Amino acid sequence: MGRIDELKRRRTFAIISHPDAGKTTITEKLLLFGGAIQMAGAVRARRASRHATSDFLAMEQQRGISVSTSVMSFDYEGFAVNLLDTPGHEDFSEDTYRVLTAVDSALMVLDNAKGVEARTRALMDVCRLRDTPVVTFSNKLDREGLDPFELMENVEETLGLACVPMTWPIGMGQRFEGVYDLVNKQVVFYEPTQRGRKNERVVLESLDDSRLDDWVGRAKADKLREDVELLGALDPFDPEAFATGQQTPVFFGSAINNFGVRELLDQFVRKAPPPQARPTETRLVEPKEEPLTGFCFKIQANLDKQHHDRMAFVRIVSGHYQRGMKLKHVRTGKMMAINNATTFLAQDRVVTEEAFPGDIIGLHNHGGIRIGDTFTEGEDLKFTGIPAFAPELFRRAILLDPLKSKALVKGLEQLSEEGAAQLFRPLEGTAYILGALGALQFDVIASRLSEEYRVRARFEPMEVSAARWVTSDDPKALEKFTHENKRRLFRDLADNLTFIANSHFVMDYTAQQYPELQFHTHMEI
Ligand code: G4P
Repeated sequence: MGRIDELKRRRTFAIISHPDAGKTTITEKLLLFGGAIQMAGAVRARRASRHATSDFLAMEQQRGISVSTSVMSFDYEGFAVNLLDTPGHEDFSEDTYRVLTAVDSALMVLDNAKGVEARTRALMDVCRLRDTPVVTFSNKLDREGLDPFELMENVEETLGLACVPMTWPIGMGQRFEGVYDLVNKQVVFYEPTQRGRKNERVVLESLDDSRLDDWVGRAKADKLREDVELLGALDPFDPEAFATGQQTPVFFGSAINNFGVRELLDQFVRKAPPPQARPTETRLVEPKEEPLTGFCFKIQANLDKQHHDRMAFVRIVSGHYQRGMKLKHVRTGKMMAINNATTFLAQDRVVTEEAFPGDIIGLHNHGGIRIGDTFTEGEDLKFTGIPAFAPELFRRAILLDPLKSKALVKGLEQLSEEGAAQLFRPLEGTAYILGALGALQFDVIASRLSEEYRVRARFEPMEVSAARWVTSDDPKALEKFTHENKRRLFRDLADNLTFIANSHFVMDYTAQQYPELQFHTHMEI
């Protein structure tokens, strides 16, 4: 298969949902359909992560030996699917935002009883910024929930996203019988079998088949026929509106019982877009371009604790990766021969022989690669759009073992390179500040400092409540500001000037005093 055919069959996506909507369950079902796992239960073990800090830390510590679940690649009906995992815990939402920069579409999983919940809404805001196409799965139809029309209304109202049903539920709760497949015009019944096993499907080719009445009862059969007629009046699926994130195809089902999941996957691979072009500071890079380009959107540590080994996850944007090729790490200008890139299958990692746009490869790295870094075959490009958010929580690292200050700084630097938290160096003195969006990030850092860097540190809360990156087109104004506010000025890992204030009041007041400057709540890395 040629390079262009290979890229056309790729589908790279992530699942977005509110905790408990069923992301883990549906991931598992998709992997079962893709033949990537043989048994239910393989993915579930990870779910503990969002419940308690201790669970999360335990999981972090086990990562080194467990298989990677950050990227799950599998083939389905001729399509090469890359499912990118996002952290379950909301303290790590920044990681999720970055993963969303590496996908071409998203699957939104909703709890049918709850509709669009807070976390989903926040993640959808990110999708909307980038016009990411979104497919919707309304889950848990085996429980009583919203009427399907109400569910669609909820999505339209909260997200401003027009819904186009692709399947339609027959009944709900204990009397959920299956779905009507509006694309193939088939009634699909399911026999619920054991949890996690693929189910037997029974298909009727027409809504007028009298067996429908026999099986679900006259009233339900008529209701279905009526609903389907009503749905005929809705706008049809419009690929353009879907591609620009205005319209979402909607599927109904029950992940745990494997109802409606096959219909979802069948249509998902056909409707979701292949790898898309991505902007750089200078130009748009098209996936069909021959030279290889890509960017790092995630770094995962602990693959091998003894060696501080870290894996940089690189999304390929264009070209054709072949084992042994030389890539330019644009930020440092270094050429690197890549012999041992890693491809992630659901339960396995293998050395990458080749990869195409849409694929994620892992580059081993002992430091040096940062989130946001671009790789090319030589061109000086910088992909844009990978966000960093101004932290809202701040701590000072207090060293418990005074002889280890070098190790502490190194550890904090490396951990913030991974995006685990953000480290700010003061312009004057050595009082480093660590910033995060979620409190759990500090626990993870403390635990990793002691595990991996043998540094015992404690994090002390500070009377600091806001940070903003400061820029200006006017170098004189910036110089004056720097001179007058030295004590409150810091540099982040990429040397960006950062103003850190004790209160939002001081932040706003300062911003007013310096109208020539811009104070940013988020930055592109
Ligand atoms: P998450 O990753 O989005 O947080 O959700 P997850 O898949 O872990 O599912 C959350 C809970 O919802 C789990 O129950 C799961 O079994 C249940 N669930 C998932 N899909 C369905 C469905 O289609 N119908 C029903 N009724 N429940 C569903 P739990 O009690 O938290 O865990 P467990 O005891 O099942 O392991």
